[in-house]
Amino acid sequence: MDSQDWDDRYAASELVWGVEPNRWVVRELTGRTPGHALDLATGEGRNAIWLATQGWEVTGLDYSAVALERAERLTADLPDEVADRLTWRHGDARSYEAPAAGYDLVLVAYLQVPAEDRRAALRRAAAALAPGGTLLVVGHDLGNLTEGVGGPQDPAVLFTPQDVLADLADQGLRTVRAERVHRTVGAEPGHKGEGGGVAVDALVRLERGAE
Ligand SMILES: C[S@@+](CC[C@H](N)C(=O)[O-])C[C@H]1O[C@@H](n2cnc3c(N)ncnc32)[C@H](O)[C@@H]1O
Repeated sequence: MDSQDWDDRYAASELVWGVEPNRWVVRELTGRTPGHALDLATGEGRNAIWLATQGWEVTGLDYSAVALERAERLTADLPDEVADRLTWRHGDARSYEAPAAGYDLVLVAYLQVPAEDRRAALRRAAAALAPGGTLLVVGHDLGNLTEGVGGPQDPAVLFTPQDVLADLADQGLRTVRAERVHRTVGAEPGHKGEGGGVAVDALVRLERGAE
């Protein structure tokens, strides 16, 4: 799918992924000291908005202008102090140039693209980390095809935790976690319509050492 395909998909239905944040984002980041965060491929912004409610200053980037219009609309309904912490940017995750100061947190959630594009985006994400920063990558695991429900059915856009580690092997990051995790489908509005069951996700959390 290219950006036009994504625009069409977003235009075809209201809030494709829902407004609730992804459960792994909540599990991994609740209680963290807020700083500056980048949500690469933010979509309609559900995770970026949740981070802003937790006190993070968040930049949400996506190449779908339609998704970002949705995110802007959701932002308009937020309390001012939360809305003021959100910045939406139109751009390509594969070529994103972070400000020199970098981010304390970079999130890449459900960026289901061919391996070459994933690798490019993840390497931009790693490059965007400030010293001491956290990179959290979550997405549909390859094993979801045979063991889970829902999600993309094209193996070319699925990945494993090991794929993420291989993409970033030379980036000098410390691995905090790299695991397959199970998500009961139905509890997340973004995955309604998939029917009941358990989805298999890949979750990788990495850190850049403090300088
Ligand atoms: C499955 S959605 C996930 C959205 C969001 N991260 C979430 O979890 O709700 C994938 C998003 O990736 C975006 N995307 C795909 N390739 C991209 C790229 N190269 N640069 C920026 N955004 C991209 C799409 O436009 C889409 O919004």
